[in-house]
Amino acid sequence: MMPASNLTAATGPIGVFDSGYGGLTVLSQIRALMPQLDYIYLGDNARAPYGNRSFELVYEFTRQAVERLFALGCHLVILACNTASAKALRTIQQRDLPRIDPNRRVLGVIRPTAECIGSFTHTRHVGILATPGTIRSHTYKLEIAKLYPDIHVEGEACPMWVPLVENREFDSPGADYFVKQHINRLLHTDPLIDTIILGCTHYPLLLQKIRQFTPSGIHLIPQGQYVASSLQTYLHRHPEMMSRITQNATIRFLTTEHPASFAQSASIFLSHPVTAEHISL
Ligand code: DGL
Repeated sequence: MMPASNLTAATGPIGVFDSGYGGLTVLSQIRALMPQLDYIYLGDNARAPYGNRSFELVYEFTRQAVERLFALGCHLVILACNTASAKALRTIQQRDLPRIDPNRRVLGVIRPTAECIGSFTHTRHVGILATPGTIRSHTYKLEIAKLYPDIHVEGEACPMWVPLVENREFDSPGADYFVKQHINRLLHTDPLIDTIILGCTHYPLLLQKIRQFTPSGIHLIPQGQYVASSLQTYLHRHPEMMSRITQNATIRFLTTEHPASFAQSASIFLSHPVTAEHISL
């Protein structure tokens, strides 16, 4: 096992952070592309969901998690959470990294997702389904406007979707009502939408239901594969970072909740058994 504080280690695993289980959907896509690398997944399950929390709290919780992953030897941390990417990434990059270690990197999931939509939409009308925090931050709108000023973006906050997933109700008849409600609202607001971003890492678990209630012909974009390929490109372009990532094909799961319940739920997201360790932030 790694020592508790490893801030001076020259190499280490990639850190992957989410408020709970959703980041596992991103992690599995990253591992599918780069299975040789080492990873630490940290889920702040004790304080999830983040979606309705204030900017200050999401920033504070995310900063704590990033600092802990750095202390565990990570030189690169992926915020596999849209809410944390929307509310904390910029401040961490601009204010905290120069103080902690200007050579470490923290990357989010919103930019790589926004980059991919240009080739999907023909009507140039795109919808975002995400947590209230991500929608209120307008981060998707801002990122898309920078990349594709001609694309019109509408967002719909889905406050019940993460609790449905976290409580393993994503497949239940009860989920139908909330999934249908938000898709209908989004498409009512802008009937020209032909591409919908699932802007929350939990939503791939609801994909079947989302498909069921979305008219055919509309592209649904779960973000994991785009985040994974963008990370792979980043590491090709930054060999100095690649050389700081250990490559023994290992993975370690940390949770701020009970490791046994994390392991049980994580195995649903990853479709293989995992062992988890408790961590306090
Ligand atoms: N999975 C996170 C995201 O991508 C949100 C979950 C939460 O609300 O904590 O936004």
